[in-house]
Amino acid sequence: MKKRITAVMLLSFLAGANLSAQNKSSHPDLKIENKVDSVLRLMTLDEKIGQMTQYSSSWDLTGPPTDVSNEQRLQNIKEGKVGSMLNVATAKLTREAQDWNMKNSRLKIPLLFGLDVIHGYKTMFPIPLGESASWDLKLMEKTAAIAAKEAAASGIGWTFSPMIDVSRDARWGRVMEGSGEDTYLTSLIGVAKIKGYQGDDLTAQTSIAACAKHFAGYGFAESGRDYNAVNIGIHELNNIILPPFKAAVDAGALTFMNSFNDLDGIPATGNKYIQRDLLKGEWGFQGFMVSDWGSIAEMINHGYAKDKNQAGDIAVHAGSDMDMEGNVYEFELKKLVESGKVDIKLIDDAVKRILRVKFQLGLFDNPYKYSDEKAEKNNIYTKENLDVSLEAGKKSIVLLKNENNLLPIKSSVKSIAVIGPLADDKDSPLGNWRGKADPNSAVSVLEGIKTYAPKGVKITYAKGADLSTGERSFLRPMTINQTDKSGFADAVKLAKEAELVILVVGEDAFQSGEGRSQTDIGFAGVQDELIAAVKNANSNVVMVVMSGRPMDLTWSDENIPAILETWLLGSQHGNAVAEVLFGKYNPAGKLTMSFPRNVGQLPLYYNQKPTGRGDEIQDVTYSAYRDVKRDALYPFGFGLSYTTFEYGKIKLDKTTLPKGGAITASVEVTNSGKVKGEEVVQLYLRDLVGSLSRPLKELKGFEKIELNPGETKTIQFTIDEKMITFFTANQKWEAESGDFKLFIGTNSRDVQETSFYY
Ligand code: NOJ
Repeated sequence: MKKRITAVMLLSFLAGANLSAQNKSSHPDLKIENKVDSVLRLMTLDEKIGQMTQYSSSWDLTGPPTDVSNEQRLQNIKEGKVGSMLNVATAKLTREAQDWNMKNSRLKIPLLFGLDVIHGYKTMFPIPLGESASWDLKLMEKTAAIAAKEAAASGIGWTFSPMIDVSRDARWGRVMEGSGEDTYLTSLIGVAKIKGYQGDDLTAQTSIAACAKHFAGYGFAESGRDYNAVNIGIHELNNIILPPFKAAVDAGALTFMNSFNDLDGIPATGNKYIQRDLLKGEWGFQGFMVSDWGSIAEMINHGYAKDKNQAGDIAVHAGSDMDMEGNVYEFELKKLVESGKVDIKLIDDAVKRILRVKFQLGLFDNPYKYSDEKAEKNNIYTKENLDVSLEAGKKSIVLLKNENNLLPIKSSVKSIAVIGPLADDKDSPLGNWRGKADPNSAVSVLEGIKTYAPKGVKITYAKGADLSTGERSFLRPMTINQTDKSGFADAVKLAKEAELVILVVGEDAFQSGEGRSQTDIGFAGVQDELIAAVKNANSNVVMVVMSGRPMDLTWSDENIPAILETWLLGSQHGNAVAEVLFGKYNPAGKLTMSFPRNVGQLPLYYNQKPTGRGDEIQDVTYSAYRDVKRDALYPFGFGLSYTTFEYGKIKLDKTTLPKGGAITASVEVTNSGKVKGEEVVQLYLRDLVGSLSRPLKELKGFEKIELNPGETKTIQFTIDEKMITFFTANQKWEAESGDFKLFIGTNSRDVQETSFYY
């Protein structure tokens, strides 16, 4: 065994030495290329196909099981016929699996272990949709870095994150995993996460490979139904969906994952245009593309391939390099190469990409780099990590309504009733896609309130009703409690007795996530009745909404005086909520997805295009609904504070943007309230006439600032050609001359405007 490793390494070393002799500027990537080539030269076709095969562990499935037995899997690993495994974690288990490979396989090419580390490994951070509401890129980089550090200690070298699917439909359960409806913000957050996961030095023990997913269009699943078809045109694809992925390539994301959906009839997994021509061609992506779980074989169900053989043929030509738990490449690729349908060059290209990432991560130097028992003991679920989770939690909370400044809770309040099915839930705050979080390990809202309430305040608690009955888990559907109201009487009694009610309602963690689409985005089960009963008993109600998606809060907005959207904030959920309730932290979160007035408005998003019938509702011939207003209940970028901010007039240093030049837009923002607060100052542009109809507004910049009471800051934005460049009717990225509107404001609706010419 030792001999072979040495031979491979020696070859690599010689190749590297040769290179530096020829090329003095010995670029590290070129060294890696030579190493990759020298390993590739030693590989048989079976071993090459093996690198393109990824197995899941059988004990922790995140998709439908396939029928390769555990014995066969083990045997294949020993024969060097597996390149990666997912859903194997802990230093011990990954070490054992790596051992099967290293001690038995001919070439001893290290296995790469992947896992869905989406918003934490064991220390859970807010679900991504929630965290995006912080608009705090540094913070998001930090939480990703901690997630990477924890996962890396447990053997994981690759996370299937960030999910950078722009989505406009709250019915889709996976909106919890993304950063909302805006392309620009999603791009920036994706880049921050990639930096966090991959760090500055890929060979560091704490750096893991990121995976930009799902390429592409998954967030546009028709009617918000998971895995459904995506029917969009080339301009929308390029202008709205693809930019975060291009940004991910530029940020150095090591891997990509394709998606389950079809794109205008062609399944993404078999889509050559996006994967081979665009991503690997035009954008120059050097990493590898993993399929989504079984998505190669799913092209048969799509009616795009007649059998696995054809599916494999299509996928490999299109640029899918690794088959996740699909068993297509494993069984079909050899036949395809031998029959001449697939050129060995395609296989070599895929294998080189996979080997390249393994070299970049330093796995050839130390295949056990991530299986580090000591780091596992020291780096995971530390006080330090939990502190960052608290910081991220409170920064993600969005204050939606605060009539008569009911919040923060006055120090004079003597009794509080905490009511609701989620009030003492220690599990739902962990969210779906919860890595290796211990069940029930989060701080509940009730616990947080008890910790933060001033001494002497009487706190009572009643659940009111269960949200679900029976088992809750990643793979099984939940059963919602539709009938049992036996806890209502107790809840109503406590509500009557207390000065203030904190009503904690919303969604269970397993109402959002993969396969968790809903046609109803209101309060499930008996919650509506509970909310009404409690409100009748005591109108002094603060509603704490926990959810993985924008919910229909129209009734609540009309009837409840104060509403906090708290998402599912992870390990420190209850403490973060309590800090906001008691005013220890002044909320500053801003929505990254529009909250509709009702589900019928979906898909709903702020950056809509104008219609031929104008945007103002005047009579019935305008583009509107007859039953509700057409805009959002709470728009993109919206979020209140315990203080108020006043915006001065927008000033432009010039009103014509010169070619190659820039305009500086500035605005003064003053904290006109009584407490310190943070504000996200938002810049939007509109291109008035274009070769395509252009959105009414598009976010192009923002700055998060903190101001003391009475303090004023001047915020400056630089407007350049890049900001107005889009994928035009010429199918090129161009800036078109003409008139533009420029808006600055506190959310996408409440803005001031001015204009410029380019
Ligand atoms: C399917 C999901 O779509 C994908 O996002 C995830 O990474 C894989 N399963 C692995 O769990």
